[in-house]
Amino acid sequence: MSHKQLTNQPKTIPLAKPWLGEPEAEAAKRVILSGWVTQGPEVAAFEQEFAAYVGAKYTCAVSNCTIALHLALLAVGVKSGDEVITVSHSYIATANSIRYCDAIPVFVDIEPQSYNINPILIENVISERTRAILVVHQMGMPCDLKAILDIAHRYQLPVIEDAACAIGSEILWDGEWQKIGKPHGDIACFSFHPRKVITTGDGGMITTNNPQWDKQFRLWRQHSMSVPDTLRHGAKQVIFESYPMLGYNYRMTDIQAAVGREQLKRLPEIVERRRFLAQRYQVLLTDVPGLKLPCESTWAKSNWQSFCVRLPSQCDQKQIMQAMLDVGVATRRGIMCVHREPAYDLETWFCGMSDKDCHCKPGCCERLFESEQAQDHAIILPLFYQMREQEQDRIVEVLKIVCQG
Ligand SMILES: Cc1ncc(COP(=O)(O)O)c(C=O)c1O
Repeated sequence: MSHKQLTNQPKTIPLAKPWLGEPEAEAAKRVILSGWVTQGPEVAAFEQEFAAYVGAKYTCAVSNCTIALHLALLAVGVKSGDEVITVSHSYIATANSIRYCDAIPVFVDIEPQSYNINPILIENVISERTRAILVVHQMGMPCDLKAILDIAHRYQLPVIEDAACAIGSEILWDGEWQKIGKPHGDIACFSFHPRKVITTGDGGMITTNNPQWDKQFRLWRQHSMSVPDTLRHGAKQVIFESYPMLGYNYRMTDIQAAVGREQLKRLPEIVERRRFLAQRYQVLLTDVPGLKLPCESTWAKSNWQSFCVRLPSQCDQKQIMQAMLDVGVATRRGIMCVHREPAYDLETWFCGMSDKDCHCKPGCCERLFESEQAQDHAIILPLFYQMREQEQDRIVEVLKIVCQG
């Protein structure tokens, strides 16, 4: 069959779809009728259940992952003018959180297979101004934490894990499979945006094993108010609160948390299904000439938040995506490169090279070659819990045909 013979389907297969239903609707209703709708008992219960799931000592629920990263960076002491080593190849939220601290993102290239930070390149960019390393488990694929932590420990640098996409992903650690977010670095941050594996509409979670940082997160998320509402509410005596330092309104609502608790119950089934579908893609796409499939290291198990393939070299990314959309298959291009965005002119990021060695131009950096290649030549295929196998067969059929031209 040729490209021209593909017929449109009545409904486009979406890239992603949250799995929400009656239990979530009932949970939201229960909270609304209870009269306590923000940062109350449901948030506390969600935090505890999340901690048990990932194996973390402390968890703090917040409004989203972007600000979770902001608080994580503040907690480890990132200040104005400091450098934070990270990737450009991520959603812009990762780098933005560094700039919220008035610090400078220092971008390191990725490994082409895992789409994650290349640990070999980290040491080259460590300077006396480096204050932290912010790594991403991109698209749910665990990054090489062992290698990263080894470097971080040698330089006494804290490691923050951007685990926005990685709820349910696992890493082989001390001979056993452990959940991302335990955390293995110092702090991990999760997102519950609808594009993620579970959702609360919007929402975020910070995990750490450091009680001081956890205490700090709880203060910061509510304007650093000395006495939480829950305590004042039940008190028999009048209590006046105080505000000892600058804080933020980064609260999660109880409605979101109640939905999150239901989503957490579904999580094992969701991850299992995503792994099944990802494995099925691997089998069905194995013989497409030039198409590069994602793969897990022996020590990593992805939750397959995204299934990203690299197109054969002769294929034009935009044309392929358009041809697929024309016949009812939605895709997304490879993960963005932040350094190419107008919001990141050369004043706001750094490639780690001395001025005389740096040949960066706005929107282009030779040191971020793999990141740029991944953005320009990879596409993300639909993958969601409810996806039927016939739909997946259709996606595979379409992709094979459009790749042939
Ligand atoms: C890698 C990464 N980090 C951070 C974020 C920000 O998450 P949120 O939308 O919850 O702020 C996202 C969201 O897409 C992401 O993909």
